[in-house]
Amino acid sequence: EKVVLAYSGGLDTTALIPWLKENFGYEIICVCINCGQEEELTDDNLQERALSSGASKLYIEDVVDEFADEYIMPCVQAGAVYEHQYLLGTSMARPLIAKRLVEIAHNEGASAICHGATGKGNDQIRFELGIKALDPDIKIIAPWRMPEVWKMDSREDEIQFCKDHGIDLPFSMGKGYSRDRNLWHISHEGLELEDPSQAPNYDNLLVLSVSPEKAPDKDTEISITFEAGVPKTLNGKAMKVSEIIEELNRIGGANGIGIIDIVENRVVGMKSRGVYETPGGTILMAAHDQLEELVLDRETMETKKRLGSQFAQTVYEGKWFTPLSEAIRAFVAETQKVVTGEVKMRLYKGNIIKNGTTSPYSLYNSSLASFTTGDLYDHRDASGFINLFGLPLKVRALMKNDVKKI
Ligand code: ARG
Ligand code: SIN
Repeated sequence: EKVVLAYSGGLDTTALIPWLKENFGYEIICVCINCGQEEELTDDNLQERALSSGASKLYIEDVVDEFADEYIMPCVQAGAVYEHQYLLGTSMARPLIAKRLVEIAHNEGASAICHGATGKGNDQIRFELGIKALDPDIKIIAPWRMPEVWKMDSREDEIQFCKDHGIDLPFSMGKGYSRDRNLWHISHEGLELEDPSQAPNYDNLLVLSVSPEKAPDKDTEISITFEAGVPKTLNGKAMKVSEIIEELNRIGGANGIGIIDIVENRVVGMKSRGVYETPGGTILMAAHDQLEELVLDRETMETKKRLGSQFAQTVYEGKWFTPLSEAIRAFVAETQKVVTGEVKMRLYKGNIIKNGTTSPYSLYNSSLASFTTGDLYDHRDASGFINLFGLPLKVRALMKNDVKKI
């Protein structure tokens, strides 16, 4: 029997290889899914590491473009933000990883999938809801939730376990932040962040960006064009969505954009504190908002905002492959037909400053908005409008007067 193991090359998932063999007797197919994590490990290293630890095969799957086009963009278009701040970088990658794991399990005729997420977190939920939605028959193995068989409590234990199984790799002993990086963001949890009274140690922490005070004293101007809600060019150059995000990460990171420090509510009921760097994502979402302001009518925008907030919750909870998720994405997609145009901004020490917006679908009508009288708007129409609009208020005030007289 075969098991597909979600493999990162790190200590936790490497220790899982001999552990799965010993406890289940499985043949192990390692799968490393690249959503843009830019790990230091080269493909050759990873292959060597997996096979020498006892796996029979390693798949390295580059899903960066699929991630950008099919997972990031729907979230950007929906304006999906969890608890007012978190741009869902980890959350939105999990369903795609689950999907690929299931596809490879089918390819290999594997009956089980194993992941290394802890029993306290959100990731276990996202992986497993994704897997269940796509193949309810696959057995899921979550070693961190099996204390009877998974006896390792520390990195030292895991390193010893690996050594006992003839795996001697240069893993570092020290405790670091728990991080998750992909094209969209990097998350940091653990160490001093576990105490909300402590300021984050930004000098140690930041990977994609600098603190705003270390950003240049001069602003950086950028321009992004969108077609039907999808970014097409950055500073006049046509690029794939994934390339635009990469480039925006570079520019945004240098200007200290998109660093948040949040205590969030996990699905499992606890609060947890994290710092997230989403430099490019923060710019892209702001640019998309800036354009929508101009082209969406008020009611559509309001409905979209409500659904977007519900969508954020849905994605956070790992419910990507659900009817509600599909229906919201379909609604959002319909609204994007007019989200075409150019957005200009200036980036300055963590701030995004609007620098002009244009669109052929703009609903902004200068002759309407200006204070001079035009053909479209007759001031006299406003009197009747206000009479009817204010009728319920007037009726209530009359009633109150009558009651006072009794
Ligand atoms: N708290 C964030 C979330 O739930 C980030 C989780 C990071 N995951 C990790 N394996 N370090 O989406
Ligand atoms: C984990 O528990 O594996 C990381 C944190 C999370 O999933 O929320």
